[in-house]
Amino acid sequence: MAALLRSSPASWLGGLLAAAYLFPTAQAIYYNIDTPDQIRQSARTLAYDMMLFYKGNQSGQIPGILPGPPTEHLGDYYWWEGGAMMGTYIDYWHLTGDDSYNAVVTQGMLHQVGEDQDYQPENHTASLGNDDQGFWGMSAMLAAEVGFPDPPPDQPQWLALAQAVFNTQADPARHDEYCGGGLRWQIPRLNAGFNYKNTIANACFFNLGARLARYTGNQTYSDWANKQFDWLYNVGYIHPTEYRVFDGGHIEENCTDINKAQFSYNAALLLHGSAFMYNYTDGTPEQDKWKNRIDKLLWSIKRDFFPDGIAFEMPCEGHGGCSPDMLSFKGYVHRWLAVVSQIAWYKRTEILDLLAGSTKAAVAQCTGGETGRRCGFYWSKGVYVDPAVDKTSGAGEAMNVLAAVSSLLIEETKPPHTNETGGTSKGDYAAGTHTTIKEPLRPITAGDRAGAAILTILILASGMGMFGYMSFGD
Ligand SMILES: *[C@@H]1O[C@H](CO)[C@@H](O)[C@H](O)[C@H]1NC(C)=O
Ligand SMILES: *[C@@H]1O[C@H](CO)[C@@H](O)[C@H](O)[C@H]1NC(C)=O
Ligand SMILES: *[C@@H]1O[C@H](CO)[C@@H](O)[C@H](O)[C@H]1NC(C)=O
Ligand SMILES: *[C@@H]1O[C@H](CO)[C@@H](O)[C@H](O)[C@H]1NC(C)=O
Ligand SMILES: *[C@@H]1O[C@H](CO)[C@@H](O)[C@H](O)[C@H]1NC(C)=O
Ligand SMILES: *[C@@H]1O[C@H](CO)[C@@H](O)[C@H](O)[C@H]1NC(C)=O
Repeated sequence: MAALLRSSPASWLGGLLAAAYLFPTAQAIYYNIDTPDQIRQSARTLAYDMMLFYKGNQSGQIPGILPGPPTEHLGDYYWWEGGAMMGTYIDYWHLTGDDSYNAVVTQGMLHQVGEDQDYQPENHTASLGNDDQGFWGMSAMLAAEVGFPDPPPDQPQWLALAQAVFNTQADPARHDEYCGGGLRWQIPRLNAGFNYKNTIANACFFNLGARLARYTGNQTYSDWANKQFDWLYNVGYIHPTEYRVFDGGHIEENCTDINKAQFSYNAALLLHGSAFMYNYTDGTPEQDKWKNRIDKLLWSIKRDFFPDGIAFEMPCEGHGGCSPDMLSFKGYVHRWLAVVSQIAWYKRTEILDLLAGSTKAAVAQCTGGETGRRCGFYWSKGVYVDPAVDKTSGAGEAMNVLAAVSSLLIEETKPPHTNETGGTSKGDYAAGTHTTIKEPLRPITAGDRAGAAILTILILASGMGMFGYMSFGD
């Protein structure tokens, strides 16, 4: 995944958006979310509609993925977003109790484990980043934490899959001294972006370390979580006082050429992992450090990504330049914040209030399509904007609202398990330790090179300036 690599410029979008705002048609709100029953009913409909984007359980289709990848003209969605979708439905089951999609999720999660059972399938090496692998790993971790039904015994188990992803990323072969540490974005060395060390790749690894530490109590994981957070801070990807979280930098510049684009999921993933560390270090002198990070990150997220209390993808939304990747970030932010409210108890009321207000705005714009209940991306304006204006089919937009609505039930649900408090998934400390870094099977194509060139150009432009050419009312 690459927020920067895959932006979708659409200069004509501004005009369309402006028109939509100028002439809003009054539409009845379809989704009610005032009571738990209404929330469950709304979530059920949203889950049904979202599933219509998924073809993975139809005959001849590939389980686990949304239509794509775009580089092969197969659809809008990269491999990682299938993993994110599986996580959204794992949470959906946990939050609502509706198991209608569990079989689909289990099939998808297991089909994509890859040849070595570590979420690095050969099919996807051509765009395999540590973050792409990390998203699948985090969905496996989530399955272990919420007690999602275990796979058959002859299949890899949720906890072991999360450990496998962690172990491949902790492998010395994946670490070097450029920039004083940190993972690179891409895994295969021939991939465009192998020279970029970015926040999301390291935030995924940090997050898995924090959660495995809390789940198993094993210090190896918490050592890594500490190391990763410290690196992100020291290299300057986290602003020292404002806690804005930036995108990344290049090894040729020792990561000092920081691209200052801020995406909501980077900050939210660091907050979520910090909350696991805070909970894990409860009663120790270490806890204060994590509390401080939670305080700063939540403050920063509210300031930058919830203006007026409504989720807003700041670097691209105001300019109509969000890529399909970016169009799915709001849902993760809502889901992760909801979990923070369970394990950093002192933030509970503040977070629940925030999510309630933002979700109200989310459903208010779901008035589109023939059903009168399709969702768009632009929550703040209260008006449905057809996802086609962003040149997507709308899976991310649908997933965001599903995530936000089901997360309203967080108060009724159990906090993430540890292996001492009900977690039963079988782990394997050695999982993922026998894999080799894979290189792409096919030669680098012209398309990949074009991707690399676009990335370079975007990185050379300044963080905010990079979207500047998509002027808003032309
Ligand atoms: C795919 O899953 C959906 C949701 O569970 C279900 O409605 C549909 O019948 C399934 N399709 C096939 C071909 O199994
Ligand atoms: C890899 O691609 C082949 C051919 O499209 C497909 O049959 C298979 O299911 C894919 N495997 C994964 C894990 O996506
Ligand atoms: C490279 O960056 C790291 C991390 O910021 C720093 O510790 C190191 O001193 C830098 N190396 C050089 C040669 O500037
Ligand atoms: C949890 O995992 C730790 C570390 O592997 C182990 O020492 C402990 O016995 C486990 N607890 C349970 C209840 O399985
Ligand atoms: C840690 O998480 C548990 C839920 O597993 C919660 O009850 C507890 O309050 C959390 N601890 C703190 C200090 O917030
Ligand atoms: C802790 O985790 C590490 C890394 O996976 C593993 O090598 C070690 O055996 C584990 N320790 C215990 C006590 O289970």
